[in-house]
Amino acid sequence: MRNERVPDRNIAMELVRVTEAAAVAAAKWMGRGDKIGADQAAVDAMRMMLDTVDMDGVIVIGEGEKDEAPMLFNGERVGNGHGPQVDVAVDPLEGTRLTAQGRPGAVSVIACAPRGTLYDPHEMFYMEKIAVGPQARGAIDLSAPVDWNIRQVARAKGIPVEEVTVIILDRDRNTDIADQVRAAGARIKFITDGDAPAAVSAGIPSAGVDMMLGIGGSPEGVVAACALKCLEGDFQGRLWPRNDDDRRLAEERGIDLTKVLRIEDLVKGDDVFFAATGVTGGDLLQGVEYTAGGAVSESLVMRSRSGTIRRIRTEHHWRKLQGLDHTVN
Ligand code: FBP
Repeated sequence: MRNERVPDRNIAMELVRVTEAAAVAAAKWMGRGDKIGADQAAVDAMRMMLDTVDMDGVIVIGEGEKDEAPMLFNGERVGNGHGPQVDVAVDPLEGTRLTAQGRPGAVSVIACAPRGTLYDPHEMFYMEKIAVGPQARGAIDLSAPVDWNIRQVARAKGIPVEEVTVIILDRDRNTDIADQVRAAGARIKFITDGDAPAAVSAGIPSAGVDMMLGIGGSPEGVVAACALKCLEGDFQGRLWPRNDDDRRLAEERGIDLTKVLRIEDLVKGDDVFFAATGVTGGDLLQGVEYTAGGAVSESLVMRSRSGTIRRIRTEHHWRKLQGLDHTVN
């Protein structure tokens, strides 16, 4: 008979080793101007450490299709094959350009949820997004005007509209949204990349961000939804076609481009595990610092069902990790 008093396993505690490994490997490439090298380092380290995790995982959000991505491609089995059957979303290096250019805000991230519960955006690469923290949960609506959403957030947080900070990915396609935020009277923080950690920061009081708006990557949207579910925040997305080819593809696949995907559509149920480690320091996480004979990393580790939110500062000592090259344990 199952003993109800025995706490079940929190896979996120193992997943953090995976993002730590990727972050410590990728951070070596900071400022070297090589996006591909940085991403490859993160992918290799993440892949190696994933094999140690007790789970039967399938990548739903990965590096792309098998033909283009040699590892961590969509559909790839990961984990050691034992343990729970899960869907896995990975972004070994969210912010490849940030890392290559030595700019803040790059992270390595992973999320897991029971098999069949993570949304698969297929080849629809972009998504219009809104993300907020716990206080504004249930108060937002992506199909409503920007100024209505800002007023809702201001009311929910008990602050004037002029004090609401909206984080937006700096892209031409987001100019109209930024104009609407300005017209509403709120503040804007622009980022050049990394809208997944930006969305997560909207759910963390100390990060100084009240909401995230704008069109960014769909995979990053699913990852952010996983984190915001753990944080009891809110997230909505709507797939955004770039051109007629995207519109045709959506039609062929029976995808409704007008549908607002709620957090429950993006990650069903309430058993999500999330881990992220900072690569270059930013609002959400400190970056990797190398020390004599090692490195120090900071991670965010969360589980929706228990509501536990951990910040883990890890010291890695190469001398004790002999045989594992520069991956971490
Ligand atoms: P990568 O580091 O994986 O390239 O993603 C960075 C990123 O800025 C995401 O955070 C964002 O969702 C997406 O790219 C936006 O795509 P684009 O650069 O094509 O506008």
